[in-house]
Amino acid sequence: MQTEIIKIDFSRPLAPQVEACGKILARGGLVAFPTETVYGLGGNALDEGAAKKIYAAKGRPSDNPLIIHIAKPEDAEKYCHTSEAYYKIAEAFMPGPITVVLPKKDNIPASVTGGLSTVAVRCPAHPVARALIDAAGVPVAAPSANTSGRPSPTAAEHVIDDLCGKIEAIIDGGEAEIGLESTIVLPREGGVTVLRPGGITCEMLMEVFESVTLDGGITKKNESGAAPLAPGMKYRHYAPVATVFLIKDAGNADFDGRVTRFLARKLDREPRTGVICFDEYREAVNGKNVFYFGKKADDEEHAKRLFDILRKFDKTDAPEIYATASDTRGVGLAIYNRMLKASGFNILEI
Ligand code: TXA
Ligand code: MG
Repeated sequence: MQTEIIKIDFSRPLAPQVEACGKILARGGLVAFPTETVYGLGGNALDEGAAKKIYAAKGRPSDNPLIIHIAKPEDAEKYCHTSEAYYKIAEAFMPGPITVVLPKKDNIPASVTGGLSTVAVRCPAHPVARALIDAAGVPVAAPSANTSGRPSPTAAEHVIDDLCGKIEAIIDGGEAEIGLESTIVLPREGGVTVLRPGGITCEMLMEVFESVTLDGGITKKNESGAAPLAPGMKYRHYAPVATVFLIKDAGNADFDGRVTRFLARKLDREPRTGVICFDEYREAVNGKNVFYFGKKADDEEHAKRLFDILRKFDKTDAPEIYATASDTRGVGLAIYNRMLKASGFNILEI
């Protein structure tokens, strides 16, 4: 299939630029598009056939449900049973990087929700995503626009690498602002459970809800064999080809000194060693496969750059990768969670 690539000109009105792509979605085709979190691979959420095409293009297991993207928070009424908690979330955080799991209505095909009785809904903030949903006139089912198992795409080039030739069109709207997928929450009696951490942080949710709990799978490996609440969280994700080790602060004095010496020794022995570390380590830690992903305290920059760096490793000869984790406050929890998955829970306490 010939994939058309549409570069958005933000100085011009968006609606005419995405009109043809809206028509592709309405008639059952697939279009990748930018959102504020990561790029999505969109298809008509009311069309069983479109959902099947999404799974096929990504090589995604069919038990891993899709998120439905809507233009306005109230549109959720048409596809699911909303609640007071939903409107609290909507008022505080929509449009924005948050997804809510709600009981589904019958018009959403089972193939979209992996057979679950619930559906995940999200109202994105990105102007191109919003213009596209409007142009389609249907809710847009959209997983991240990557081949299953690879890091989510934060730029159109990533989508082109994974999906060119497999879908009708890719809309290039530049780099994703956040760089990590949306926060997924499940409303429950008295509060919410976070199924996947993201740009809307637990601290932000705690300003709205009395009780905010974290699903166990976010920081721990699921060894019980129980089905995770967000099916996608069970898969090894974001994984470069090389083995990844996540370096964690064991709480001893002089963490930075110990880590930089450890990394410098590794690089001394094997100059191809891959590293993801803070800008502050630049002097002490360097090599051909060393990437710096922002100042130690700059979580937002780490979030923006992590997936692009993980993808870059697949074009290097690094036999092993060592990554330094941010602290787990704020958006740091989402970064830590994605790094844990990239490493297959391979933690190195230093
Ligand atoms: O930021 C995002 O959320 C991006 C952009 C494109 O919007 N989308 C995204 O979709 O990350 P995807 O498919 O890569 O991740 C969806 C996650 C999966 O872990 C899936 O298991 C979970 O959402 N999910 C979807 N429907 C669910 C449901 N009904 N109950 C629980 N988890 C659900
Ligand atoms: Mg994904």
